Amino acid sequence: MNAMTDTKEFDIDPKALRQTLSCFPTGVAIATTLSRSGDPIGVTISSFNSVSMDPPLVLWSLARKAGSLPEYRAHPGFAINILSADQAHLCKLFASPERDRFTGLEWFQGAHGVPCIAGCAAALECETHAVHEGGDHEIFIGRVLAHTSSERTPLAFGKGQLGAFSLG
Ligand SMILES: Cc1cc2nc3c(=O)[nH]c(=O)nc-3n(C[C@H](O)[C@H](O)[C@H](O)COP(=O)(O)O)c2cc1C
Repeated sequence: MNAMTDTKEFDIDPKALRQTLSCFPTGVAIATTLSRSGDPIGVTISSFNSVSMDPPLVLWSLARKAGSLPEYRAHPGFAINILSADQAHLCKLFASPERDRFTGLEWFQGAHGVPCIAGCAAALECETHAVHEGGDHEIFIGRVLAHTSSERTPLAFGKGQLGAFSLG
């Protein structure tokens, strides 16, 4: 009945589910905002996606256990910094236990006040439009206020590995 191998029904093991989901390659981004004390903060994400063109909406999700969750909830906006292929070190840094992630990093304040990281493949500044419950994550939907793109090759993530995006 089902041509797929290794089909998993009902009894969903998180490790196996993660492996299945890793077959869907994504880009990698750093979601940034300002903490309640005014410091730049950021977290590596692969859950970014587009939602709507009119109005212009995007989404990403953050684990409820993430230490930075209260800060993203408190600030009215965030930026999505889409990493370029030569920024794999930032992907790792912003997913690490290191709290001081911006020291030595080239960044600037975007037109709408949130931190933007220099040298990215693209970036979007957003106003938080809605926050939805999503199991052990919270889903942030943002309305795009400004965006920029470049010719830089994006960083790609799939099958647990990072690499330069390429087709063919
Ligand atoms: C490639 C990659 C993608 C990730 N994507 C997400 C994501 O979409 N959502 C999330 O909550 N954590 C994601 N993480 C894990 C977070 O970056 C990491 O747990 C981070 O330290 C959590 O933020 P905190 O420092 O505020 O606790 C990802 C990590 C990596 C390496």
